[in-house]
Amino acid sequence: MAEGLTKSAARNIFYGGSLFFFLLFAALTAHSHWYMVSESTDQAGLSESVKHGKEVWEENMCINCHSIMGEGAYFAPELANVWTRYGGRENPEAARAGLAAWMRAQPLGAPGRRQMPQFDLDDEEMDALIDFLQWTDGIDDQDWPPHPAG
Ligand code: HEC
Repeated sequence: MAEGLTKSAARNIFYGGSLFFFLLFAALTAHSHWYMVSESTDQAGLSESVKHGKEVWEENMCINCHSIMGEGAYFAPELANVWTRYGGRENPEAARAGLAAWMRAQPLGAPGRRQMPQFDLDDEEMDALIDFLQWTDGIDDQDWPPHPAG
């Protein structure tokens, strides 16, 4: 009688296990993709302006200091929820004006406080950027971040 595991049983467990976990991985990947495009994202609201705002976000490398949905640098506040934090869900006009005024007022120059540079965005870029921040705020990010400003 064979002692412990035979070679062929070990091989079968290895191949069977590999196949099982590969299929599980493929299924979870497919599910994540499906969830992102159909459940958690506002496809209908994805306007040209939102797309342009994402370009403004990228061209100015805001991510070098900020995180968005946890991705990016942790020097400055998380911005995926900044629209909600500025009260955009209750009063969109005030939030829009508040965000634009904040960005136009930088750098504050307050001693001992981290500074944000001035980006000199024109009105169209600023509008698009805020549309992008508003749209991003609508993504279901499963209650990220754990603290309101990241
Ligand atoms: C060099 C680092 C840096 C870059 C690059 C940067 N920021 Fe900031 N940002 C900051 C810092 C630091 C603060 C917080 C300043 C404070 O609280 O006084 C801030 C704050 C903000 C706030 C207010 C957040 C809040 O919670 O009140 C917004 C909105 C913002 N940044 C947008 C942007 C956008 C959009 C870009 C790209 C165009 C950008 N930032 C690029 C450093 C940066």
